[in-house]
Parts: sequence; structure tokens; C-alpha cells
Amino acid sequence: MLNNLNETVHVPVLLEEVVSMMGDLQGKVIVDGTFGGGGYSRALLDAGAKKVIGIDQDPLAVKRAESWRGLYGDRLQVVNACFSEMKKITKELGENEIDGIVLDLGFSSDQLDDYERGFAFKYDGPLDMRMRGSGVSAADVLAEYDERQLADIFYKYGEERKSRQIAKLIVERREAEPLLRTQQLVDLVGQIVPSWKVQGKNPAMKVFQALRIYVNKELEELERVLPDALDLLTKGGVLGIVTFHSLEDRVVKDFFRSVGRPVAKNKYAQAVDDEGVDEKSFEVVNRKPILPSAVEVADNSRARSAKLRGLRRLR
Ligand SMILES: C[S@@+](CC[C@H](N)C(=O)[O-])C[C@H]1O[C@@H](n2cnc3c(N)ncnc32)[C@H](O)[C@@H]1O
Repeated sequence: MLNNLNETVHVPVLLEEVVSMMGDLQGKVIVDGTFGGGGYSRALLDAGAKKVIGIDQDPLAVKRAESWRGLYGDRLQVVNACFSEMKKITKELGENEIDGIVLDLGFSSDQLDDYERGFAFKYDGPLDMRMRGSGVSAADVLAEYDERQLADIFYKYGEERKSRQIAKLIVERREAEPLLRTQQLVDLVGQIVPSWKVQGKNPAMKVFQALRIYVNKELEELERVLPDALDLLTKGGVLGIVTFHSLEDRVVKDFFRSVGRPVAKNKYAQAVDDEGVDEKSFEVVNRKPILPSAVEVADNSRARSAKLRGLRRLR
């Protein structure tokens, strides 16, 4: 969706479901670890939250909020950082007991539709893909990693079956010409993965997903934040996470299942309970993930693969 400045506006996914999972928001302090366009933060504040701490690693997301965040005064604080630093950030802000944490993983429409950032196979742009705007870019990976490392990235983070053939062709081609633009990569993958095999999807989709996850260390960030988020939650507090693909959903599902068990059977016991009491400290809020309605998917195709899972601290 474009606004009147001809910029993309991110439409939040599963917004009502996320807000309602946080329960009665009066007097509550919530961390929105993936601030993005601020859709969740605003809805949480409008529903009565006492304070929201928004975190985003993308400096442009934080800058974009400058025009409106003053409307909420001290109730909204926005920090440019990775969500894995959540514990340090909340401590610095003097908020050590948090009533709710929300994470809406992956990238925003603002990032996807900015072709200069190289996330989209639909547009031609530089092969960048760095949400935080610094560090190793997708082009650096394609230029410097050897064939085996590239194949592993495409297989592990994109579940791309032709990972080895694609990696081989990249290494051959880059001798003659560096791979710097998204459309070069789309064309190259198209030579290995025929479009009829991917049923209407772009043949390069999995390779783009793999590079984005790798460049932004998405799964490592997620694995780091989970135990810290639980440490921060007060009794009754809820951690709600929206995922968009099976790799990240598996990490969340396995962690929630393990933590939702009595301590003796919980491989994260140390992270969640240092008293060693053999009772449940957490419960899974919804046995099955909450999915978007057909109406939401029809209005916002980005929602189609979204899943919301929640975990509540019991004591
Ligand atoms: C799907 S969008 C969130 C949209 C937001 N819920 C809204 O309503 O506008 C994901 C955002 O999370 C940010 N992000 C992704 N991984 C992050 C991380 N590890 N630390 C901090 N921010 C991250 C991205 O930069 C992006 O802006």
C-alpha cells in the first residue's frame, strides 16, 4: 500500500490477535522488539498500555517514526538496536519488569519495496539486504564465499534443493563479472530452477530468503532473544511471536513446547527457573498457532504465511 508521499506503508499482520493476546493493557509496559512501521506499538498504546519500548535494528524505521512518536510523549520510546539486546535496553531505560513482549519477525513492506535495499526479486537493485544498513551485504557473500559455503546457505536457510548447482554457477560467473544486482541473481537462478517447477512463484525466491536470513543473522537473533525475553516477563506476562516461514516457526514452537514443561523436563530450565522448582513456570497460550483470517489474507497477501504463537509466565 502506498501513502500520499508515494512511500510504502507497512500493514501490520495479525494486529488484533497480537493486541488481544497481551490481555488488559491498562498500566502495562510492553516491548515491541520489531518496531517496523510502529503498527503494533501504536495499537498497544491506543489500547491503553502505559508504555511501549519499540526496538528496531533498521535506523530508517526509527527515523520514520520521528514525525508521529511525539503524539505519545514519554509513553513511547524507540531504540535503534537488535532485539537480542532487549535485556540491556530495558535495564538502561529503568524497566526491568515487562508485562508483554511482541515480535513480528522478518522484514517490513517498507524494506521490501525500497528497491535500493535489494530485498525484492521483483525489482532491480543492489544486492544489499542488510536491515541494519551495515556489515556484510548479500553481494559480499556472493563475491567472497566458496562454493560449498554458498550451497550450505541456500540449503539451510532457503531449503533450496538445487543449492549446489546454483552455488557452482555463481562461482563460475563471478570470475567474469561480479554479481552486484538483484536481477543478475534472478537470471542466474532462473537458469537452474525452471519456472514451471515452482508453481507461480519466482524461481529465485528461496535463494533470496536464504541470503536475507544469513545476512541479518535472523535465526541466531531469534535463538538469543527467547530466553532473555522470558527472564524479563513478570508473572502473567505474555511473549507473542509472529513468524513467516517454517524455519523460524520451528525455533519458536520447539522453544515454547520445551519451556511449557515442568523444570525437570525442560532443556531451558536454567534460563527460565533458577529456583529448581519442579513445576511449570510457563504455559503455551494457544496449542495451535493463530492464523490470519481469509479476509486478512485477501486484503494483505503478506499475511498468508503468518503464524502467531504465545507463551505466558505463570509464576
Ligand atoms: C515485519 S516488520 C514489523 C512491523 C511492525 N510490527 C509494524 O506493525 O509496523 C519487522 C521489523 O523488524 C525489524 N527486525 C528484524 N529483525 C530484527 C532484530 N533482530 N532486531 C531488531 N529489529 C529487527 C526489521 O528491521 C523490521 O523493521
